[in-house]
Amino acid sequence: MEHEQVWGRRASVAVVAAALVGTGLTAAADRPGLRTEDGRTAAAVQQLARLGQPDRADGLCGGEPCEAVIRGLLHFFDHSPEGLPSNGRSCGDCHMATDRFQLSPANAERRFQLLQWRRRYDPTADDPLFRPIDADDFRTNGDDASDYSNLRQNGLIRVTFPLPPNVKLIDPATNQPSTETFVDVWRSVPTVNDVKITGPDGGNPWPRDPNRDGGYQLDARVATLQEQALGALTNHAQVQGTPSPQFLDDLHSFQRVLFTNGRVRELSDAIDEGTTPLPDPDPRLSPLEQQGKIVFTRACAQCHGGPRQSTPQPPVIRYHDIFAGCPRPVDTVTPPRFTYVPCTPQLARNARTYEITQANGAKVRRTTDDPGRALLTGFVGLPQPQDDWSKFDTPALRGMSRTAPYFHNNSAATLSDVLAHYVEFFKRVQANAPGGVPPPIATTDGVHFDRAPLPEELPALLAYLQRL
Ligand code: HEC
Ligand code: HEC
Repeated sequence: MEHEQVWGRRASVAVVAAALVGTGLTAAADRPGLRTEDGRTAAAVQQLARLGQPDRADGLCGGEPCEAVIRGLLHFFDHSPEGLPSNGRSCGDCHMATDRFQLSPANAERRFQLLQWRRRYDPTADDPLFRPIDADDFRTNGDDASDYSNLRQNGLIRVTFPLPPNVKLIDPATNQPSTETFVDVWRSVPTVNDVKITGPDGGNPWPRDPNRDGGYQLDARVATLQEQALGALTNHAQVQGTPSPQFLDDLHSFQRVLFTNGRVRELSDAIDEGTTPLPDPDPRLSPLEQQGKIVFTRACAQCHGGPRQSTPQPPVIRYHDIFAGCPRPVDTVTPPRFTYVPCTPQLARNARTYEITQANGAKVRRTTDDPGRALLTGFVGLPQPQDDWSKFDTPALRGMSRTAPYFHNNSAATLSDVLAHYVEFFKRVQANAPGGVPPPIATTDGVHFDRAPLPEELPALLAYLQRL
């Protein structure tokens, strides 16, 4: 296996080139930057080249110009795009073609070990996933940073935000507000499958920018795939220079033809064509899975709603804090009315304490690994639940049986852990409901707390989730 990867490197350029015969782009595929990391990636990229063959009478590829799809494919895996000096990273280094276009901690660790092994024989061996900007010690050691614990143990990438003017970080040494002007949070790498249908969706607006009706990134701060690609090139690949609009458009075209499976692709086509009713992308379900789908519709689809499973359905509001952050909340009442599984120490250490000055001048302190949309707005506190603290975009769930672990910080290892988390989530919502009145996320009739999955329903729900 290890040999295949080392030797596969050489073969890969030829493999990609072969896949592109007939597209007029073989010269581009010969460029040295397009070396994929290993034989398996090269094979996956070759498979993807079929997306650049016209599939319909309109001569387009999934609604995109075929040449743009192929160019986008090449850019996505290009480690040194022409005219754009960079740190050698391609999109595919994190959104792995062999891992459903995401990155699991297991793969990050495997690649780290492989790199150490290769370096024994070849001191120049490299894997661009490991760049100092994503090392834990980057802020102290800069370009010499080498502690990749967050990447290896948690599969997390550094994302840096300027602090809003009313938000300060607390210095752990002094317990006083620090002079820091930005904060690093650590986020999981989401899949880019299905992104054609998981951007802004035009419904259920949130009261504050950015992107009141949904967007890209875990916090929906980005409106288009072009803007997203520009951010990734700047922040993850550290490009010097400005990518051309066509470069960004090509990446957009390529990603818009990536789907979890053919059924999701048909759904997307039907949305484009305005077909009603829309086809249901679920596969054929067993009776148990059918039962699970009914539970999903009651307990989950108020947030994971609509055909995309990512649009909260009014009166449920758009952005939510489901308490996936670390540390998890702990009940102050004995015996506790809800008990989340605590975060592992390797995740808990990413938490920071913030001091937020609210509109009325009051200061509050909160501790989390990721304030979510509050980092974009500073809008924290009242009126709840429409503040921005730790609020994230509701992700789509297609294909997720193969994209473990889950949540913005990869804090749920399995789908069973996800369900255990939501059981406590609903208990907490009930425990904290003002006046005992259930909020729309927890009730179907405005009176009863009747959305939470019951213990006896969990096996069916899990069986359904595994088929998505
Ligand atoms: C160093 C790892 C890394 C690289 C390289 C990288 N990404 Fe990402 N990508 C991430 C992370 C982490 C996020 C989530 C960031 C956030 O929410 O703040 C993300 C999010 C995304 C999303 C949003 C998906 C959604 O459902 O909202 C898209 C699209 C995307 N990346 C495309 C790209 C493209 C195109 C490139 C290459 C130009 C690229 N990425 C390079 C790590 C990476
Ligand atoms: C109150 C709205 C809400 C409800 C109810 C809800 N979710 Fe979520 N879900 C979210 C949000 C927001 C996130 C992103 C949270 C994060 O990453 O911190 C999420 C994330 C997830 C993820 C992680 C996806 C990934 O790729 O990492 C899964 C899986 C999931 N939800 C499944 C479910 C299931 C199953 C149910 C029903 C038992 C459910 N959700 C109910 C809002 C909701």
